[in-house]
Amino acid sequence: MTNLHNEWWRKATIYQIYPKSFCDIGGKGTGDIQGIISKLDYLHALGIDAIWLTPIYCSPMIDNGYDISDYYNINPDFGCMADFDQLLLTAHQKGIRIILDIVVNHTSTEHQWFQSAIADKNSPYRDYYIWQDPKNGREPNNWQSKFGGNAWKFDQKSGQYYLHLFAEQQADLNWENPKVRAEVENIISFWAEKGVDGFRLDVINLISKQPSFPEDESDGRKFYTDGPRAHEYLQRLSESVFNKYGSVTVGEMSSTSLAHCQQYSATDATELSMVFNFHHLKTDYKNGDKWTNAPLDLLQLKQIFNYWQQGMYNKGWSALFWCNHDQPRIVSRFGDDKKYRVQSAKMLANALHMMQGTPYIYQGEEIAMTNPHYQSISQYRDLESINMHRIMLEEGKTEQQVMAILANKSRDNSRTPMQWNKKDQAGFSDVQPWITVASNYPEINVEDALLDQNSVFYHYQRLLILRKQLDVICWGDYQDLCPEHEQLFCYQRTTPEQKLLCINNFSAEQVPYALPDSLCLENTRVIIANYNSPEQVDRNGQVVNSLASKAITLRPFESLVLLEAV
Ligand code: GLC
Repeated sequence: MTNLHNEWWRKATIYQIYPKSFCDIGGKGTGDIQGIISKLDYLHALGIDAIWLTPIYCSPMIDNGYDISDYYNINPDFGCMADFDQLLLTAHQKGIRIILDIVVNHTSTEHQWFQSAIADKNSPYRDYYIWQDPKNGREPNNWQSKFGGNAWKFDQKSGQYYLHLFAEQQADLNWENPKVRAEVENIISFWAEKGVDGFRLDVINLISKQPSFPEDESDGRKFYTDGPRAHEYLQRLSESVFNKYGSVTVGEMSSTSLAHCQQYSATDATELSMVFNFHHLKTDYKNGDKWTNAPLDLLQLKQIFNYWQQGMYNKGWSALFWCNHDQPRIVSRFGDDKKYRVQSAKMLANALHMMQGTPYIYQGEEIAMTNPHYQSISQYRDLESINMHRIMLEEGKTEQQVMAILANKSRDNSRTPMQWNKKDQAGFSDVQPWITVASNYPEINVEDALLDQNSVFYHYQRLLILRKQLDVICWGDYQDLCPEHEQLFCYQRTTPEQKLLCINNFSAEQVPYALPDSLCLENTRVIIANYNSPEQVDRNGQVVNSLASKAITLRPFESLVLLEAV
């Protein structure tokens, strides 16, 4: 029986790096591995335990590395294997672990397996991919690519279609073929042998497709999401690789369910360590459609967190996150990226970091970087955004409407260069970067954040320390204190020894709130807050971390975390 308390990652915080936009030492306008090495002290100061690197392998970069053409080598744009080895060694010396991104639902069509498969129907690699004959002279079914359009691409030469759930340059691998599964084991073992500490598994719940490829009344996702053999495949990988090397693993689960996630991340370590799901980030979609502008539905957000926090308790383990390289910046999304940028960023951080799970910080989140508010389609680089721009125009939206949607929903919102300082290009590069720097870098950058004791950076630093110090953050159960409240998100975490209350105002208004009757104020103190208010400093200038009354009024985006010793 695993002793959960011995697993380092349950009290850890992981920092995600999107290398292309992190730090450019080579002067190419794109970030590189040496750039990452140069910032390890900064990350160490933040207090993170591990880095998740998005893909750094050889790739034509159609989807910025999620289209891998060689799993065993480093993309020269990022450096070479010696650079990677140096990163691993240096990070380890500083006590930082390295997690690599493994993309094995699909490969680039430039991968030699696919090149061989498409060149010759009798190639031993043909069956590495998913080929189907046309049906009634058309695509084998109506499944849709996640990046828009049909998910099948016709190959003139063989007269068959291949499946691509993402871009047509990302061909889905055929996991039914045991040779594919053996290749995947070899790839992961290769990196684990090098000393890599863990893996983030890209869209890993899509690897098992319904083998009859049925037509769907919708986009087909129910026939390949959490598919028939997904658990079996993960159990085998876990046995043959992850458990052998002691790797931490986090699976990216697209459109998944609680029951599946309980199983993927079960505490007996038969599959993965933890899982990402995205339901909480669909609370600003209109009718389930990402490509719309709708305000946050706070009640729904709370309901989703409640469902997952309670559902995973003692059963599985969640990866907690607001941001990643596919999501807009959270402060622009659920906060206020102008007047209350700092307060709302800290509030959002508290709201997430007091939950059960392993939190992830996406580069720049710790200084509350914002969406760049691009004005022209020429500034976008992401293929999904460019596809959707075309599709939304075809559907009859105006250019202005489409640009307004992209400004809120595009994946490029999070891919702008990291803002290090006030110098040109925000100190990211000496040359014009591959994607435009957000214009607010003179005000929002790491250098300034480090000089300001009240910055968002130091707030995150404190949250990371609290997670290590307080068992209740790691192990407490979860209870929503005001599920029906339109502006507040307040929840409680409890162990037999401690009670923690996380009180958050998601609005720009003043909101009264009565703390629960059961709370004993004498035993309660504020452990982190986001306002340096007169109320928290007494006449002698001493910080007062206790509350005078249970009737409180929360200021715009105010957040308080209270700890009661019970
Ligand atoms: C995941 C990645 C995303 C990528 C997609 C296809 O969702 O996070 O960036 O485009 O998988 O690999």
